[in-house]
Parts: sequence; structure tokens; C-alpha cells
Amino acid sequence: MNYQNPAIAQLAADLRTRFDTLEHKADILKAVELKAMYAQLPQLPADERGVFGKEMNQLRTELQELVDAATEQAEALPPIDVTAPFDVNVPADQRPSLLPSQTGSRHPLMIERDIILDIFYRMGFAASESRELDDDYHMFGSLNFPDDHPARDDYDTFMTTQLDANGNRLVAPAHTSTMQNRLLKQYAPNLERGEPIAVVVPDRVFRNEDLDARHEHTFYQLEGIYVAKGVHAGMLIATLKTFLQEYYGKELDVKTQPFYFPFTEPSFEFALSCPFCDKKGCNICSQTGWIELLGCGMIHPNVLREAGIDPEVYTGFAWGCGIDRLVMMKYGIEDVRHFQSGKLDFLRQFA
Ligand code: DAH
Repeated sequence: MNYQNPAIAQLAADLRTRFDTLEHKADILKAVELKAMYAQLPQLPADERGVFGKEMNQLRTELQELVDAATEQAEALPPIDVTAPFDVNVPADQRPSLLPSQTGSRHPLMIERDIILDIFYRMGFAASESRELDDDYHMFGSLNFPDDHPARDDYDTFMTTQLDANGNRLVAPAHTSTMQNRLLKQYAPNLERGEPIAVVVPDRVFRNEDLDARHEHTFYQLEGIYVAKGVHAGMLIATLKTFLQEYYGKELDVKTQPFYFPFTEPSFEFALSCPFCDKKGCNICSQTGWIELLGCGMIHPNVLREAGIDPEVYTGFAWGCGIDRLVMMKYGIEDVRHFQSGKLDFLRQFA
């Protein structure tokens, strides 16, 4: 299409070039220059307006046709199967050969998760899975985070653009605590039968972190909750100490210091004596002899109440612990990023 008006001809050339680079082709119809050019119309001498208007309409039609053609072409392409490990359009004998499955092995985190679960099963805990997408209520609201509370920012939460029924963005859970409210409700009938609620959640969580040897965007946590009549913080410490001694296969010292979580009161940071050097100081424990391992505390009355459990009658404890860190300490793994790297020389050491 040729345009007589040099300004319109130039604009047409610019927009054609831009069109090729656009991801959303229809955006070209919203180009600000188009609007600006139309805006010039009233200022033109009356005898020029007719031709100008006609050419601008031609330009719009040309762009609309480009957009229509691009849409048609995109719809004509065969859909790509994103789950296929290779391009399905490549002939079979030219596809990359896959590793034979008989030489594969279980991922070290999954092997260790089973060992950890076995210890908790023997202590009478049930296990439950978490989720990979959840809502603001379970991630924060049900856990006594007030709206707009700054503690929400500590969780570096990935969010979707999709909104839930309350108009909040859906989240990729940044902690396994996102399951607390559901599990307290699910197991509440235990309390009426005189049995405790005792559940662990070993599952994946996601955080928008700056990555380094100690921080990964995807990792595993072990959540635990225990509720019954007369539960106190001594039981929390004894449970965690028993678990850790069983997992590392040795006597350990533990200590707590005060901390803050909205969903526990009191809240503690829990440290254990370094299982590597037995408090002598090494590079695993940064020469301090102690490892700050996890957050825990007595479940806040508001969290119990939100799940329909009377905090005047029942009390409970909860904790959340990074599984990757537990495993790193067990084997002296120096970089958390190995776990998600898919490096066979790392993985084969655990096969
Ligand atoms: N959800 C906390 C975090 O990811 C960890 C945590 C702390 C979990 C205390 C708990 C708890 O259940 O009681 O930082």
C-alpha cells in the first residue's frame, strides 16, 4: 500500500517494522502514533482533510489485515505438546536418545523424605501433601497475618495474575503452613475422640529469592502440627530433639530463642548442636557449634479458633523446617542448588 501523504507513509513503514517484533500482534492497532496522527485531522485545511482521513482509514485497514493474517497463521500451526521431552515434529531416528530408565535413581531429597516420614510415623504422626497453588486466605489470612501486615513481605511469595473469589492473587505457597487450617479442620474429630491431631507435611514450597549456595526458589519444608489437651512447649522441644537425634543417629543438644511468627505464640527459633563437629566449630556451623534450623512455637489461639478448635480447651505446637538443609547437613552438601540442577554426577552419589 502506498500513501501520498509523506507523514502517513512514514508512519506506515514504522508500524510495519514494529509489527514484526510484537508478541501480541493486535497491540499494533493501539499504537499511540496512530491516535496522534488522527488528532491532527481537525487542524488541517478543510480541502486536505478528505484525503488525509481516507489514507488514515486505509492504514488502519492495512494493519487490521496484518493482525488477522497473523492470527490465522497462529491458529493453523499444530499445537505443541509441552510435556514431550523432545520436538514431536522431528523424525524418530533424529530425536535425542533418552537415558535408559533402568539407570535412573531416586532423587536424594525423596529418599531422605521417606526416612524422615518413617521417623514421624513411628511417633504416631500422619502425613499429608501440600499444594502447588493456593489462595491468600490459607497462605496468610487463616494464619493470623492481618491484612497488609509487613510480615507478609518476609515470604517473597510468587503470585499469579489470576484472582481468587475474594479478589486476591493466587499464590505458589511459600511455606507448608499453608496447609495448617485445612489439616486442623480435617483432623478436629480426633480431639472429640480423645486423640491428638498429629500431622506432618513434607512438601515443596516456592520463594522469589536471590539465588545463592543457601537460597533456592524451590525447596522442601517439613511442617508439623500437634494439638491435644495440655500440650506445652516442652513437648515441642522433646519431639524435635527426638526426631533430629533419630535422623542424624547421634545425641544432640538443642536450644531455643524467642522469635516472631504471626501464627505461633510464643514463637521460637530452634537450634541444634552441629552434628558435624559436635560444637567444636567447623565450616558447616560457621565456627559457632550451633545450627539455627527451624521456626516453631505454640499454635496461636486465633489459628485454632479459625479452624473451629477451642483454644481454652486444646493447645498445640507447630514447626516448619527446611528439608534441603537437613539433608545438606547430613551429607556435607555445600550448595542447595545441586538438588534442582539435574546434574547426574551429583545425583549418582546417592543412587
Ligand atoms: N512457615 C514458617 C516459614 O516458612 C516456618 C514455621 C515457623 C512453621 C513456625 C510453623 C511454625 O508451623 O510454628 O518461615
